[in-house]
Amino acid sequence: MKKITIKKILNKKNKSPITCLTAYSKTVAEIADKYCDIVLVGDSLGMVLYGMKSTREVKIDTMILHGRAVKEHAKKSLVVFDMPYKTYTNKFNAYKNARKVMRLTKCDAIKLEGGRKIISIIKYLTKKKIPVMGHVGLLPQTSTNYKVKGKNLFQQKKILEDAVAVSNSGVFAIIIECVVEDLAKRITKSVKVPTIGIGASKYCDGQILVSDDMLGLNDVVPKFVKKYSNFRKDIDKSIKNYTKEVKQRKFPSLKNVYK
Ligand code: KIV
Repeated sequence: MKKITIKKILNKKNKSPITCLTAYSKTVAEIADKYCDIVLVGDSLGMVLYGMKSTREVKIDTMILHGRAVKEHAKKSLVVFDMPYKTYTNKFNAYKNARKVMRLTKCDAIKLEGGRKIISIIKYLTKKKIPVMGHVGLLPQTSTNYKVKGKNLFQQKKILEDAVAVSNSGVFAIIIECVVEDLAKRITKSVKVPTIGIGASKYCDGQILVSDDMLGLNDVVPKFVKKYSNFRKDIDKSIKNYTKEVKQRKFPSLKNVYK
């Protein structure tokens, strides 16, 4: 088992697709680690696990608990920690919070959402040896609507310029979220680091999905998600059967009893 390094991720650009998934818990981390290059402890956990309205409610200490669990059980892949909303409003609080995260979780890198506005923060952190992944396109922490980005020339120009600036500031990869195919293609061609798409077409250097979405745990998912399982249905069936058997005194049976 060889640990995936940032150098290996960089080398994959234009060569082989980078596989990524979010994980928030020990079990998913263990399984994702077998197959993925990058495991992201995403702040999407706010909505997915805690039922919050947006990722803006997620607290750093909550993320740290999940980050620690994931990192302890993902030995091979590169584990990236998503810095929550308002934890990187300037380079000084960004560094203080990122150091705390790295010390307490031992994650390999952090992720920051934003374009040109956060360039000085990215430069400061990377200079201080904190590996950073970028995130452009739809930015859940600050977006006012969750619509696909890059449908007009103004948005395309802005997002492309943001991606290039982020790439030049020292990140080792950039997530592109929910943009039109043509824009994802142009960004991927224009930046020197690998792009990882979520709802951003096959023209990115890699793909990421929210694990609960692709496993079919969430009822409603965006168009860009493919459900590889339907665990929600399986869980429903299992709990229905369990409660039925308890009521009928079929469970526990002789097999489940200590004599
Ligand atoms: O929090 C998250 O899961 C993310 C992905 C959408 C990339 O940032």
